[in-house]
Amino acid sequence: DWTMAEFRKTKIAEIREQVGDSRVICGLSGGVDSAVAAVLIHEAIGDQLTCVFVDHGLMRMGEAEQVVSLFRNHYNIPLVHKDVSALFLGGLAGVTDPEAKRKFIGKTFIDVFEAEAKQVGGADFLAQGTLYPDVIESVSFTGGPSVTIKSHHNVGGLPERMNMKLVEPLRELFKDEVRALGRELGLPEIFVGRHPFPGPGLAIRIPGEVTREKCDILRKADAIYLEEIRSAGLYDAIWQAFAVLLPVKTVGVMGDFRTYDSVCALRAVTSTDGMTADIYPFDAGFLSRVATRIVNEVKGINRVVYDYTSKPPGTIEWE
Ligand code: XMP
Repeated sequence: DWTMAEFRKTKIAEIREQVGDSRVICGLSGGVDSAVAAVLIHEAIGDQLTCVFVDHGLMRMGEAEQVVSLFRNHYNIPLVHKDVSALFLGGLAGVTDPEAKRKFIGKTFIDVFEAEAKQVGGADFLAQGTLYPDVIESVSFTGGPSVTIKSHHNVGGLPERMNMKLVEPLRELFKDEVRALGRELGLPEIFVGRHPFPGPGLAIRIPGEVTREKCDILRKADAIYLEEIRSAGLYDAIWQAFAVLLPVKTVGVMGDFRTYDSVCALRAVTSTDGMTADIYPFDAGFLSRVATRIVNEVKGINRVVYDYTSKPPGTIEWE
């Protein structure tokens, strides 16, 4: 891609110019944006970069392992992996309000990140995979000039608090451009093509209280859904697809037994920037295959529904 090859060259020069001999710390989330930012910055300044992966335990199936393996084994980029799932799940106990979840996760993320960054020591710069839509959404939102519909924790008070300067090489890019840049940088397709995933992770896909048990149930349902989407060849046609575990139990029947288990909702949307979205119109055969597999294979779920709401008036996430 000619444009991205140019962009890469220009940005590498800019990053070198901005950073000089200083050390840079980059927080990885497991998503495309932070991965592309980190690989680009590593190409510019090599081991002046250290990546910190705060693992809150709210990722999808197998994702944390993939991040660690990509950075350590594939790119050989210095990476601190901090498993703090107990801390996050402990703090989320009893929390049901969506914004309270976001605030707790955002704050705890920053606390852990800050402590780890201090351990790394001596960094003047903080790298972030902030995109153009993040910049817009954190300033205002379609609802009006000063209305924050949801607080996104990836743009926030961290740099001021840590007294660090920001390196944000993706600030002018939209998601599709970040993907093109990622391919240009040789990132594996499983990373580059990955659907966006919110910072607070599965916590905002479990309305009501989040527990480790619910996370495990949701991860299994979500993995089955995504596996079916991939094997049907639909993954790349969809902007985001995920399962939501509802705090609602319904009656079902399994063989000779009455069950009383949770409902799982499936969501899939098409979009170009996440600001507006349309539902993905799966055929009925696909949806019933997924529903059957989830109910048969995931203990704790006995009913599956499909979300037919576009954005607006719905949001992509349920919280
Ligand atoms: P909504 O649900 O607002 O989502 O239509 C738009 C896009 O933003 C993602 N999203 C988040 N990303 N922190 C994030 O980093 C958050 O708190 C958050 N909430 C929503 C969502 O997955 C979609 O891509």
